[in-house]
Amino acid sequence: MSSSRRPVIAGNWKMHKTIAEAEQFIQGLLPRVTTADSVDVVICPPFTALGAMVDSTRGSRVEVYAQHVNDQPEGAFTGEISIAMLEELDVHGVIIGHSERRGLYAENDVSLAKKVAALIDSSLAPLLCVGETEAERDAGTMEARLREQVTTGLSEVPSDRIAEVTIAYEPIWAIGTGRVATADQAQEACAFIRALIAERDASAAEQIRILYGGSAKPENAAELVGLADCDGLLVGGASLDPASFAEMVVAAG
Ligand code: PGA
Repeated sequence: MSSSRRPVIAGNWKMHKTIAEAEQFIQGLLPRVTTADSVDVVICPPFTALGAMVDSTRGSRVEVYAQHVNDQPEGAFTGEISIAMLEELDVHGVIIGHSERRGLYAENDVSLAKKVAALIDSSLAPLLCVGETEAERDAGTMEARLREQVTTGLSEVPSDRIAEVTIAYEPIWAIGTGRVATADQAQEACAFIRALIAERDASAAEQIRILYGGSAKPENAAELVGLADCDGLLVGGASLDPASFAEMVVAAG
């Protein structure tokens, strides 16, 4: 983490928590993170709890992101949610291209590029996830895969707006497996992503925040956030409990 970039700890709840459970979480979280004011705190609840979480976090430092959005303004897209619908709720941003959405719902780099561009034109901040499979890492194609995901994902964003995107590097083999990347692996990949962005724009590369995700937990949070090119964490499992999530926020401060 560089002192010029504010660390961010983001909790991706995936398909967990009813509104009542989300309210209980936030009552547990807020008192634990009031003093960690050098860290940006983000929670990503399911759609149904977004409005309640925006209301419950108003006036606090916690920002609320959605986990998915459609790039079209409206139309016959059953089950989809538009940017305007999220803006109306005062949501702050959206996770884009999580590996579960890429793998289970066939999202691809070209469709994600359209979403990133649409979000840049809105009031919502994009958090773009990238990362290689274990097979790609073993075959030595990790860098090629990251290059494809990052350059295509950002291809429709003007260079002077790239720093408004946050990237999460999430090696797929580390997600939900308890198998966290080593510090060297995480640093190497985050630095590689920053170098890719420098090919577009040097100042954007300096400013953009790059997070690590994949079995991040309180025990490894400080080491990961301490890496030169890692500016925070996207946390799945360990973000569901307010005490463990708060511990990671405090560790990043
Ligand atoms: P995990 O999930 O922390 O449970 O590995 C991370 C993610 O999917 O963003």
